[in-house]
Amino acid sequence: MKIGVFCSGGDAPGMNACIRAIVRSAVSQGHEVVGIMRGYQGILDEAFYSTQDGNVQLMMRSVSGISMLGGTVLHSSRCPDFQTEEGMRRAAEILKKHHFDAIIPIGGNGTLSGAHEFRQFWDGKIVGCPGTIDNDLCGTDYTIGFHTAVQTAVEAVDKLRDTAHSHDRMFIIELMGRHCGYITLYTAIAAGCEIACIPEKTLKTEEMIEKLHELKRAGKDSIIMAVAEGYLEGVLSLQKKLEAAGCPFPIRVVVLGHLLRGGAPVAEDRILATLLGYHAVKAVLQGQTDVMAGITCNSPKLFPLEEVIKDHRQVPDYMVELLKVVSK
Ligand code: F6P
Repeated sequence: MKIGVFCSGGDAPGMNACIRAIVRSAVSQGHEVVGIMRGYQGILDEAFYSTQDGNVQLMMRSVSGISMLGGTVLHSSRCPDFQTEEGMRRAAEILKKHHFDAIIPIGGNGTLSGAHEFRQFWDGKIVGCPGTIDNDLCGTDYTIGFHTAVQTAVEAVDKLRDTAHSHDRMFIIELMGRHCGYITLYTAIAAGCEIACIPEKTLKTEEMIEKLHELKRAGKDSIIMAVAEGYLEGVLSLQKKLEAAGCPFPIRVVVLGHLLRGGAPVAEDRILATLLGYHAVKAVLQGQTDVMAGITCNSPKLFPLEEVIKDHRQVPDYMVELLKVVSK
């Protein structure tokens, strides 16, 4: 079989480990793997990864030493052209012209929604891998990149706690995650933040002010409030609102932004990416399609793309409760 692999949407630490596993799993069984550059745009542009000696095929040695690299050697993009019927038809023609039998897209909600839609125009096998720091996909307990994003965020929050403590200040820190609060909540628990504002559980200003006064009375000299970027409002307007409502701490604001997308993947992400890349190839070779390789209860499973993209994965209530208890 000839398999195309590509990364699409926001990049995520661990994508390279996934690419390596896909190549090693398929090529070791005598199949051909071609890297498609910049996601769906690369299909439309017929842009394929080629090694220094001009070889388009990804071989066993082509992927040596990339597991520990952040980002993606195949680059990534968001491709509005592919979201049109004309674009999908053109992409299908190009894949047919190059005799691709299967594609393995590595990406998040947008990537896998496009993959699910694409099967109406192309009859090759489509098996996705969950590559996004957001951890917002149904059908997998974790997405590739999530653990590294949380680790990066925790290290940043630990540093900000030092200066918050020195100056008796409160820091409002914005974290990525699109519409989902997973990164924010897990970072808040790991880094000992006092408050987490996530889209799934909004808080009233009065509640926040009351909690901040309670914490001050309890002897806290610094506060870290972790806010998901998809929360009600931006962190600057949240700062103004809290100051106007009588926040008992001086406030500074930090936006971590794309810092959370970079860095060498932590071991959990390298292992997850390798496992899911291997299972995606296994699924393709078994003739599966329109599914995603995910992990649930520590076991790799295939999940229909229709189910994966139907809704955003919700943060567990028990973790919200946990933060409330341990942040007092
Ligand atoms: O989906 C991953 C993500 O990092 C989101 O958390 C964030 O909202 C978005 O991508 C940012 O997209 P871009 O890199 O295109 O600005």
